[in-house]
Amino acid sequence: MKFLFLFFFVALHVFTMSSESYTLPSQVKVLASTSQLKGLMTIVRARSTPRADFIFYADRIIRLLVEEGLNHLPVITKAVETPTGVDYHGLSFQGRICGVSIMRAGEAMEQGLRECCRSVRIGKILIQRDEETHLPKLFYAKLPNDISSRYCLLLDPMLATGGSAMKAVEVLSYHLLNLIASPEGVTAFTEKFPKVKIVVGEVDSGLDANKYIVPGCGDFGCRYFGTN
Ligand code: URA
Repeated sequence: MKFLFLFFFVALHVFTMSSESYTLPSQVKVLASTSQLKGLMTIVRARSTPRADFIFYADRIIRLLVEEGLNHLPVITKAVETPTGVDYHGLSFQGRICGVSIMRAGEAMEQGLRECCRSVRIGKILIQRDEETHLPKLFYAKLPNDISSRYCLLLDPMLATGGSAMKAVEVLSYHLLNLIASPEGVTAFTEKFPKVKIVVGEVDSGLDANKYIVPGCGDFGCRYFGTN
C-alpha cells in the first residue's frame, strides 16, 4: 500500500472535549463547514429523517468525502492541447486506487467511490468484537490481489472508538473516509497511526455510554440499510 490516509470529513478544526480545548492533529483533514455541508448534516442527523432522505443526503456527503479524499492522492503535471491549438497545463493522477469498505456500514460508501472512480476495485473487510477478548478482530477480508500497488481508500462512515479502523489499518494500509468522528476516536487513531491522514465531515463532542457518537446520527448502518 502506497499511502496511509484516514479520511474523516471534519467541519470543525478545534472543538471542546470535556471542557478542554482540543486541536485536531494535522493529519486530520476537515471538510469546509459550508452551509451546504451543514444543511446535509442537519438532515442526516435528524431522528425524524425518513430512510429515503437519509440515504439520499448521506450519499451526497459521501460524494463530497470521496472528492476531497481524491485531492490527497499524488499527481504529476500534464499538458494537453485544447481544440484551440493552445496547451493547457494541468495534472494527472499518479498510480491506481482501490477502495476497501469496513462491513457493513462502509458498504454504503461504495457507490460514491464508484461514481468518482470508474470501475474502481473495491474489497471488503469484516471486523467484529471478539467474544472472549472483547477486542476488534478481523473475521473476513476479500481484497484486490494487487492492493499493495494501489492507493487505498478505507470506507467507514462513523469513527467512534476507532477500534475497527485501527484494526483495519493494522492489517492493511489505507486512506480512510468517514462522515462523523468522535474526538476519542480521532485521538486513539492518530496516536497509534500518526502518519495516516484522516478526512472527516464533522467531529462531534464525544461518545455516550454505549459508544455511540453524540450528537452523531445514531446507527448509520441501520438507518442506511433499513434494519434494527
Ligand atoms: N456506529 C454508528 O453507526 N454510530 C455511532 O454513533 C457509532 C458507531
